[in-house]
Amino acid sequence: IGMLSGKVLVPEKLDDDGVALLERAGLQVACRYDLSEEQLCAALGEYDALIVRSGTKVTRDLLERASPARLRVIGRAGVGVDNIDLAAASERGIVVVNAPTGNCVAAAEHTVAMLMALARNIAAADASMKNDQWNRNKFMGVSLVDKTLGVCGFGRIGREVARRCRGLGMRVVAYDPYCAAEVTKSVGAELCRSLDELLHASDFITVHMPLTESTKNMIDRNTLSKCKDGVRILNVARGGIIDEDALLEALESGKVAGAALDVFVQEPPNKFPTSASGRLAKHSKVVATPHLGASTVEAQLDVAIEVAEAVVTALRGDFAPTT
Ligand code: MLT
Repeated sequence: IGMLSGKVLVPEKLDDDGVALLERAGLQVACRYDLSEEQLCAALGEYDALIVRSGTKVTRDLLERASPARLRVIGRAGVGVDNIDLAAASERGIVVVNAPTGNCVAAAEHTVAMLMALARNIAAADASMKNDQWNRNKFMGVSLVDKTLGVCGFGRIGREVARRCRGLGMRVVAYDPYCAAEVTKSVGAELCRSLDELLHASDFITVHMPLTESTKNMIDRNTLSKCKDGVRILNVARGGIIDEDALLEALESGKVAGAALDVFVQEPPNKFPTSASGRLAKHSKVVATPHLGASTVEAQLDVAIEVAEAVVTALRGDFAPTT
């Protein structure tokens, strides 16, 4: 296979092995981790490919202003492509590729960590110790064994979560309009016929789907009202799948006993302290992490290789669809 020529812009940290793979294919790679949006816009015209994580928003506006004549491929070092305007890219003949598998286990492991932290008040208890306290009464937890976990979205990540939580002795119910009962059964979960069925049954609810027009605010006031009193909610997928105002209200009223959130509508939420995202991140009933679902050494290596291979394939002109 012949060598490629061309330039790749990498404005967010990509594992060295991914960069090396691009270079071995003949590409020149510019890792420029400190670019402002304006600088990104000004630089984009010089590149044949762009590789981003979730921090860079490749909007229609950015593509219009940059009008990047050479750009042929945008690679997303991760699963979700909601930070890339797919229609605007395809109108310009730009192919968008992602890394659909490399960080799924990391996202599932983070979900389990958040589930445990939520059930046993790990973060608040640790913070109290750091504050020189020894308070054994304040942090009474709840058990996971024999509780029902509702998994909304039963793709690669939802299945990995289900498998692990079955190992914790939980009953797992799943809702996914695109998933067959044999698939849920193969990991020991039960398929619900409707979202309502899952809402009624679950002590904990975790969402694992992309953010799209149909999943936006899927968990809202109406759906929350159908949940068990004292339900606990997790989002390690995308900010916006859960309506943040509705979640805040439900935490205040006690309908929702606690939430574990890795993702927010506004990221970083501390930049928007009065927004619902900002208030949720600081809420005493919320365990919050800064979009760490994919942040393991192993997952970042895997997605870097996976996206680099997809970008090379796309630049060669072979078909490499986003999945
Ligand atoms: C993803 O969609 O893969 C995650 O959000 C990970 C990331 O932010 O890189």
